[in-house]
Amino acid sequence: MYSMRDDIERILVSEKEIEETVTRIAAEIDRDYGDSERSLLLLAILKGSVVFMGDLMKKIRRPVEIDFMRVSSYSGTETRGKVDILLDLHRDDLGRVDILIVEDIVDSGKTLAYLSNYLKFKGAHSVKCATMLNKPSRRKVDFEPDYSGLVIPDYFVVGYGLDYNEKYRTLPFIGILKPEIYTD
Ligand code: IMP
Ligand code: MG
Repeated sequence: MYSMRDDIERILVSEKEIEETVTRIAAEIDRDYGDSERSLLLLAILKGSVVFMGDLMKKIRRPVEIDFMRVSSYSGTETRGKVDILLDLHRDDLGRVDILIVEDIVDSGKTLAYLSNYLKFKGAHSVKCATMLNKPSRRKVDFEPDYSGLVIPDYFVVGYGLDYNEKYRTLPFIGILKPEIYTD
């Protein structure tokens, strides 16, 4: 039987390391938001963040609300540089809400720079960002996540929600694709 694992050159982040990282981020979030009486909204960016979101929300002890947005900025392994909102956030009480954007990876930074400004413009009380992975060497705009899981080098990675053309999201670890998969 064909296994997606055969397309992976090497595992970059193991399941154990993912677990430890998510536990650490959840503790940081509880430390920073634990005493606030405002609503904390975990806003996951579909589709890549669903796996991280599912793990993270279970480990945060204070109450949170969850919601989702969907944006599109990528095709294949290259960013198009433009952010389209495909699924928006609709609520009229954002002035009383702290938003924590939950993202799989910050690469060029364009998606999150755009989204943070957009959500502030819509009136959110505060907007911060938690990302599982961070590739600072690829940054094209001035954006730094408030909570960053692991800094990784400039590899195109898949698994734990991250895809290559919609594939490999279900792998439980984060791995580097064999180059022959995306070069032909
Ligand atoms: P940015 O706007 O360039 O920061 O792009 C962020 C989005 O690009 C992420 O939410 C991912 O969906 C996608 N992306 C960036 N790097 C990778 C990668 O190495 N593997 C899979 N998706 C990636
Ligand atoms: Mg994404």
